[in-house]
Amino acid sequence: MRKHWLIGGAAGVVTLAAGLALVGAQDAQRVANADSPESYASGQPIAFPHNQHAGNEPGQNNMNCMFCHFSAERSVDAGIPPVSTCVGCHQVIPGANNPEEVQKVLGYAERGEPIPWVRIYKISDHAHFPHMRHIAAGFECQQCHGEVQQMEVLTERDPAWGGDNMGWCIDCHRENGASDDCAVCHY
Ligand code: HEC
Ligand code: HEC
Ligand code: HEC
Ligand code: HEC
Ligand code: HEC
Repeated sequence: MRKHWLIGGAAGVVTLAAGLALVGAQDAQRVANADSPESYASGQPIAFPHNQHAGNEPGQNNMNCMFCHFSAERSVDAGIPPVSTCVGCHQVIPGANNPEEVQKVLGYAERGEPIPWVRIYKISDHAHFPHMRHIAAGFECQQCHGEVQQMEVLTERDPAWGGDNMGWCIDCHRENGASDDCAVCHY
């Protein structure tokens, strides 16, 4: 029978591994702006499965999105976790299906390199989207990004997301009594 590493157990493991992992914190880094469809359809450097981490099916780990995207509720960017976050668990969790993908994670950590994730969700630089204001207003991540906890590797934007079309932003602002003043989003 396949052994599952559920987070109840993994939490203890995290503490243990945190002591062992002498990996310096690296800043999250992302490959620059994916304005063209080709650049975000091209695949990620590691097949990171959102479902195995954040899914709530049996054998999945039901992690809170903000365990990794920890700045979503307090800053403009949701943030991508640094490789040191991954190593805390993966020094001791080899991966039951794709251990070679986990080895790649450890390789980046050993070399002290950030993982060059390909950025998927991006609006133009002339517009401004503050995550914390939307989280504080009670919106769920899934409302804009889809059922991420059921997804294997993220390669494309969810159809529900409309950040390349300002009508999407403005429609919701009007429905919810939020500002539609040009200057709140453009400066
Ligand atoms: C174990 C850490 C972890 C957890 C838990 C996690 N994520 Fe992620 N997330 C990542 C990593 C690493 C990436 C970058 C790789 C990728 O795009 O798949 C990412 C990417 C994303 C992106 C795309 C970012 C971009 O490039 O534009 C979205 C959206 C996202 N996550 C939403 C969520 C949501 C919603 C949840 C909860 C259901 C969640 N994540 C849970 C680690 C995590
Ligand atoms: C809280 C602990 C925890 C953290 C933090 C964590 N993972 Fe995982 N990860 C797991 C567990 C548990 C599994 C499922 C492994 C299994 O069932 O063998 C998993 C599975 C994976 C897999 C698939 C392995 C396979 O065999 O299918 C990859 C790749 C992976 N994680 C990468 C990452 C990356 C990259 C990060 C950092 C952004 C990360 N993980 C952060 C616990 C964690
Ligand atoms: C109201 C819609 C909306 C909600 C709710 C939302 N996002 Fe986003 N998200 C966006 C938009 C728009 C962008 C692009 C922002 C940009 O380019 O500046 C984005 C970008 C991202 C990114 C990539 C860039 C970054 O910010 O670091 C991640 C990761 C992400 N979101 C995760 C999340 C998570 C996790 C949640 C829930 C805690 C969440 N988002 C809730 C609309 C939303
Ligand atoms: C699902 C609904 C929804 C969507 C989609 C949405 N917003 Fe919002 N937004 C809100 C609500 C509600 C508020 C007010 C929150 C508050 O009062 O703090 C808000 C607040 C803001 C603020 C702060 C406004 C101020 O008065 O300071 C900015 C900036 C913003 N949104 C930008 C955007 C942009 C840019 C997009 C599209 C990429 C977007 N929003 C999409 C619901 C949404
Ligand atoms: C709630 C946020 C929001 C408000 C309010 C808003 N915009 Fe936008 N605007 C956006 C976003 C998001 C985009 C698309 C960015 C992208 O393409 O990634 C955009 C795009 C644009 C563009 C570029 C052309 C295009 O259609 O892509 C112009 C010009 C523009 N806005 C002008 C305005 C003016 C003028 C106002 C006030 C009447 C306004 N905007 C109000 C969010 C907003």
